[in-house]
Formats: sequence, structure tokens, C-alpha cells
Amino acid sequence: MDLPRTLISTFRGAAYPVVLTGSGISAESGVPTFREAQTGLWARFDPQELATPEAFARDPKLVWDWYAWRRKLVSEAQPNEGHLAIAAAQETFPNFTLVTQNVDGLHQRSGSSGVVELHGNICRTMCSVEGTEVETYNEGESPPLCPACGAPLRPDVVWFGEMLPYVALGVATEAARRSDVFLSVGTSSLVYPAAALPFEAIENGAMVVEINPGETPLTPHADYALRGRAGEVLPRLIRELSK
Ligand code: APR
Repeated sequence: MDLPRTLISTFRGAAYPVVLTGSGISAESGVPTFREAQTGLWARFDPQELATPEAFARDPKLVWDWYAWRRKLVSEAQPNEGHLAIAAAQETFPNFTLVTQNVDGLHQRSGSSGVVELHGNICRTMCSVEGTEVETYNEGESPPLCPACGAPLRPDVVWFGEMLPYVALGVATEAARRSDVFLSVGTSSLVYPAAALPFEAIENGAMVVEINPGETPLTPHADYALRGRAGEVLPRLIRELSK
């Protein structure tokens, strides 16, 4: 696949590039995307029915155990070429914003800084009542209990039906509204408010580029839809930028 010249030259001249990533970028690191079938023990559960406050209220052990499994997957995974290409691009633009819906911390581990995490981080744990981060707890319990108030602990991630972190969403929205180039990478563009960010960029006249092997609701609105894996397309794109 040849990358269009105008895409490269516009990206190269960007003053406020924004990259939004979703679970597709981590798929090549072995972290299953949310909407694909789970494997092994968890194959019969639907993630969309586990990642909810209602599921946690109904069966906190089930939800904690599922996240413990995902956390283990994430801790064993390594950042891939896609994450590394984004970290390299970040170095070349003074006003680069990286927004992710992923909770796996792989962008940070690949060297990116200032990552705007819209859906939290699976490696952090918080009190389900107080909302405070808890670093030390009894790992033998499922779920462990808050050392301060005794309420069950939960992962610090945004569940379906919950509000996104106010500050992170504000930073992401401002960046999208100011952006001149916006890349949407490995996201199904189905889950709002993240899915609205490229449309904020379009309002601002930004060039919108989608990188995804499949079609999404954003595809017809994007200036370019690069059909391929993030780990293959992003490194090529970043190499072209530096030529
Ligand atoms: N490279 C790029 N894209 C890929 C790759 C890849 N190697 N593999 C899969 N994809 C694409 C799929 O085609 C799909 O469009 O990644 C997308 C993954 O979609 P989802 O699983 O819906 O993930 P995401 O968009 O991140 O979901 C958003 O919803 O489930 C909640 O909170 C969860 O953060 C998540 C949010």
C-alpha cells in the first residue's frame, strides 16, 4: 500500500497532531480487543456484560477475577511496533497529544509521555465507594477490601454506563478541537464520548486518518482510511515523515 503524498506532507507540517488509539493497537501485543471472543476460561463471558457497575454489584468476585486475568495478560504483554512508532512520532512534534481508550499502559511502556487515558488503567486499583486509589491490599482476596473503609476494591477503569474522568476528557476534547491532523488507530469508533473526538477535529478542518483493517462508522468521514494493522502501517507512516 502506497501512502498518499498529501497525507505525508500534511502530517509533516502539523502543528497540533492528535492520535486516538483503541484496543486494536494492543491486539498485536496479544491483548484481546474488547469485542473479540475471549479465550480459555473466559470464553463464555461477554466483556460488555462484565465491565459494568451492575455486574460488579451482582458478582464482585467474578468481575475481580476477570480483571485479574486481563491484568496478568497485560503485564505479560510487550509494546509492539505500533506503540513504538507513536512514541517516536511524539518526539518530532512539540505539541503532540496521545489519547487512548486502552487501559493497558502499553503506550507508557513504549516511551510515550503525557498519555491521556480516557478509560483509566487496569494496573491501578481503587475503592469502589470512595473512588480513591489504593496501592496496598490483600492480594489473596477476591475482591480485596479497602483498608480504609472495608468496601470492595475495583480496577480503576471506566465501566459501561460510567462517566469518563473529567480532566482527561477535557484535555482530549480541547486537543481534538485544536488539531490539524487527527489519527484514529485501532478503534471501532462505537463507544462515546471517545468516538466523538474525530468529529471535533473534522469541525476544525483537520485531516482525519483512520488506521484499521476493518471499516468503522468513522470510515466514510475520514480523509484517508489506511486498511491494515497498526503495527505495520504506523511504522511506515512515521518513517515517511522523517524522509
Ligand atoms: N491494528 C489496527 N486495528 C485493529 C487491529 C490491528 N492490528 N486489530 C483489530 N483492530 C481494530 C478492529 O477492526 C476494531 O475496529 O480495532 C478495533 C477494536 O475495536 P473494539 O474492540 O471495539 O475496541 P475499542 O474501539 O478500543 O473499544 C472502545 O469500548 O469496550 C469498551 O472501554 C472499552 O476502551 C474500550 C472501548
